[in-house]
Amino acid sequence: MDSYIIESNKKKSRMPARLDFAQSATGLILGLFMWVHMMLVGSIILGKGTFSFVAKTMELAFLSKDGHGFPIAVFFAVLTIFTLFIIHALLGVRKFPVSWKQHRIIRDQMQMMNHTDTNLWYIQVVTGFIMFFAGSVHLYIMLTNPGSIGPYMSADRIVSGNMWPLYLILLVCVELHGTIGLYRLCMKWGWFSGKDARKSRKTLKKMKNRATLFFLSVGILALLVFVVIGIKHRDQVGEKYSKQGTAVEQVLADDTDLDVKDAQGADKTHE
Ligand code: HEM
Repeated sequence: MDSYIIESNKKKSRMPARLDFAQSATGLILGLFMWVHMMLVGSIILGKGTFSFVAKTMELAFLSKDGHGFPIAVFFAVLTIFTLFIIHALLGVRKFPVSWKQHRIIRDQMQMMNHTDTNLWYIQVVTGFIMFFAGSVHLYIMLTNPGSIGPYMSADRIVSGNMWPLYLILLVCVELHGTIGLYRLCMKWGWFSGKDARKSRKTLKKMKNRATLFFLSVGILALLVFVVIGIKHRDQVGEKYSKQGTAVEQVLADDTDLDVKDAQGADKTHE
């Protein structure tokens, strides 16, 4: 009754289209951010030194004389991404099948049509729902510990802090949700459509699958490297990485230096 009265009196609202545009815009930014994020996190594969350099660069350490970073820079980056994440999620729930009846209708349509893009949409809904929780945990930890990114601190968080199961689930969800999202944006707004729409859809789908595979592989490999570092570093949890290596490594290095010096000294005496 109420909706009928409002509808008959008012012009058709542009709000739904604006909300759709905002959802696409936040999705595009978050999707591209995730690709950059995964390459930055993936730098651990190239070694602790590389990851430490990337983490310090993200803290704008190049702006300071002694090379110390500014975690406040990471704090504002996380705050921006977290805000976009919440807005995107809020806009996303509009499309969720909230009632059992709606859910049943979608499932029946999927079985009847067996249309990959409809199935992809359903994967979006499920992965989006999971990321409400898993993504928020990660973002809150990053927001409240912006200075805790480094080869040892990250590895300790993943192993001794038991974050690896959450990262594994989040990794699969975000890589599926992100690449499917970017593919659907291309379909929705006609980007890269070329003359032959059917052919470009096929090409874009192939690129989507390859991007998913590539970023999942980088993510899983990075997680494995973190796990190995974290297991080795379990007795020194909380110790920060330094180019000179860990305290133990330094002692060992000093010892060997001492031994070498002693040996050289002895040689001299023998000489
Ligand atoms: C500016 C915001 C963000 C920052 C600064 C950030 C930072 C990091 C860092 C430093 C790691 C390495 C592990 C650690 O130190 O605990 C990591 C891992 C990860 N992050 Fe983020 N993150 C951000 C946003 C996100 C978002 C929005 C998502 C997804 C919704 C996400 C998903 C992941 C995943 C899946 C991993 C595990 C990577 C792997 O498997 O190797 N991150 N992030």
